[in-house]
Amino acid sequence: MQEPNTLLLLCRGGFEGECASEISAYAAQEGFYGYPTLERNSGFVVFHVQPPANACELVETLRFRRLVYARQWFACMPQLEGLDSKDRLTPVSEQAAALPECAELVIETADTTEGRELQGFGRKFASALAPRLRQAGVLLKRGQKAAWRMHLFVISGTSMWLGVAPVRNSSPEPGGIIRLKFPASAPSRSTLKLEEAWHWFIPRKYWDSALAPGMRAVDLGAAPGGWTWQLVQRGMFVTAIDNGPMNTDLMETGQVEHLREDAFIYQPPKPVDWMVCDVVEKPARTTAMVIEWAVNGWARDMIFNLKLPMKQRFAETQSCLERIERALGDAGLEWKLQAKHLYHDREEITCWLSVGSR
Ligand SMILES: C[S@@+](CC[C@H](N)C(=O)[O-])C[C@H]1O[C@@H](n2cnc3c(N)ncnc32)[C@H](O)[C@@H]1O
Repeated sequence: MQEPNTLLLLCRGGFEGECASEISAYAAQEGFYGYPTLERNSGFVVFHVQPPANACELVETLRFRRLVYARQWFACMPQLEGLDSKDRLTPVSEQAAALPECAELVIETADTTEGRELQGFGRKFASALAPRLRQAGVLLKRGQKAAWRMHLFVISGTSMWLGVAPVRNSSPEPGGIIRLKFPASAPSRSTLKLEEAWHWFIPRKYWDSALAPGMRAVDLGAAPGGWTWQLVQRGMFVTAIDNGPMNTDLMETGQVEHLREDAFIYQPPKPVDWMVCDVVEKPARTTAMVIEWAVNGWARDMIFNLKLPMKQRFAETQSCLERIERALGDAGLEWKLQAKHLYHDREEITCWLSVGSR
């Protein structure tokens, strides 16, 4: 009987190397051995899990939120190749029988031009496949709950991977992509980075307490104001630090104070609820600044970008995150730190640091 022995991880095209290094390192830490294979710019990585363990055990053991570069993952059966266009449903259904019971079927494609072109085909195929899987009892009836979600990753009309992911330990969004609409009145497209970060890091049920009206925020490197706009939308009062000009409509809200100061020298006169930082700087310098804010208690929550270097991107971001954890541990603080290469991030990752328990 075939087993789900491969783990598929979706990432931004061009970041397959980082995604592969990360899964290899974390899987080994958890006692799983395997090796990654990848094609550059394909938008995905295949991690081959060595028996006796299998990929289902790996996705049940490792915390998905620990992964920075993977947007989505699923434990897969062997790749189906050379599928006959007259009957693709039978081989896929046969593989599905070896997988755990699932609540829903999600069609996945890589976040590449070729991948996006396959989405229409994938949707049509899923509408034929799902009833068949329901009839076989592999896919539960609509509305019924299960611990697993089924994913069909379409490479082409003749090649696919079928797999499963734990509903509570994977991204709830297809492809791990949170789709957001650009707000017409926001001053820059960067605004979507902060909105996506909130969606990813802060569960919706906490938004009313974590992003509450009347809170005080500092936006370092704020101009022209895309991130400040998000804070203002939540009813916060913002100190925007940047030598560049801020959007005039945003300034007219009366909720923004603009200071033409250096983000790395500025200190808030009183502690604030939020510090956000989108300054383009070396990750080590941003890291030192974040540590200073946390250790001095200048902000409770922080969202900041670590701009990625040209080389050793995984090693560099790891070492920055470890440096923050060490410094906060040495200072006797409690914290939560998470990082993600978000859909709206390019040569950077976004981090959320929350100091003290809420
Ligand atoms: C990527 S842009 C920020 C975009 C902004 N988050 C938005 O949504 O509109 C980076 C900003 O950082 C500012 N900046 C760079 N170095 C800075 C420093 N040392 N202090 C303050 N601002 C800085 C730049 O002037 C630039 O406006």
